[in-house]
Amino acid sequence: MKIYLRGIKQEDFKPFIFDSDEFVSSLKKADIVVSAADEMIPSEKHTIVKTEGGWLLNTPTLQIKVKDLGLLRAIYEVSVMEKRFRETFIHVERFKKLVGNLLKSLIVMMEVEDENGLSHSQRVTDLTAEFAGFLGLSSEIIEFLKDAVMLHDVGRVGLEQLLLYTPTRLRVLESKESDHTVVGSLLLATLEYFDEYIPIARSHHERWDGRGYPDGLKGERIPFLARIVAIVDWYDWAVNTVSSEFEGGPLDTETALKKIDSMAGRNFDPELAKAFIKFMKQR
Ligand SMILES: [Fe+2]
Ligand SMILES: [Fe+2]
Repeated sequence: MKIYLRGIKQEDFKPFIFDSDEFVSSLKKADIVVSAADEMIPSEKHTIVKTEGGWLLNTPTLQIKVKDLGLLRAIYEVSVMEKRFRETFIHVERFKKLVGNLLKSLIVMMEVEDENGLSHSQRVTDLTAEFAGFLGLSSEIIEFLKDAVMLHDVGRVGLEQLLLYTPTRLRVLESKESDHTVVGSLLLATLEYFDEYIPIARSHHERWDGRGYPDGLKGERIPFLARIVAIVDWYDWAVNTVSSEFEGGPLDTETALKKIDSMAGRNFDPELAKAFIKFMKQR
């Protein structure tokens, strides 16, 4: 019997279809030859046709000829499962894109744009992705960061609304800047499939010395990607925000980098802070 794997690489298919030991041994018994084929079968239909001396199963990814219909049924079940698995995966990806884009729009609408039309979260996202490339992180992680960092301050959405419309609560909320990390992580936790974004939203204001918020995590207990975002986030705030902390308005790049250098080991992961300064200087 021959199994033709069409349109996908044999290695990609193997772990899924040959998952069960029982199935693998039944395949061995039947002495099945698996061979990869390049083109997809155009029809999306699964058909079982009686042919000379056996049965023929056609699926979008498999074409199987077999003498015994029992084994054929087993193979068929697995191929249907595979199809469902792929469909579910596509639905989840679509859902994540849709909800993610909605949240990103809310964030962009809420934040102040600079002269280039970019807001804090957009700038931090772009710079973090660039810095991650400098650090040699994989393209998967960089793609992940593009989504995750856009949502790092998502918890501000609700808080800003409260600040705007309930002046009596202004003082209380202003003194609770840390709330946006908790609100953000709770919001992400309530959305299905968004939990992977929680570590950055929750921990990007933690400090290397353990004096950050909201959990007071110390050193390497702070999630690695959150440690990266912490530096870029602070840098963006320093060079773009008019703050009463800095006389004469926002800092220039050089001064901001000097400050980051002096904060390394206290506020920031010292290795990452060193790398960030190097990255910004050669940029
Ligand atoms: Fe933040
Ligand atoms: Fe931020």
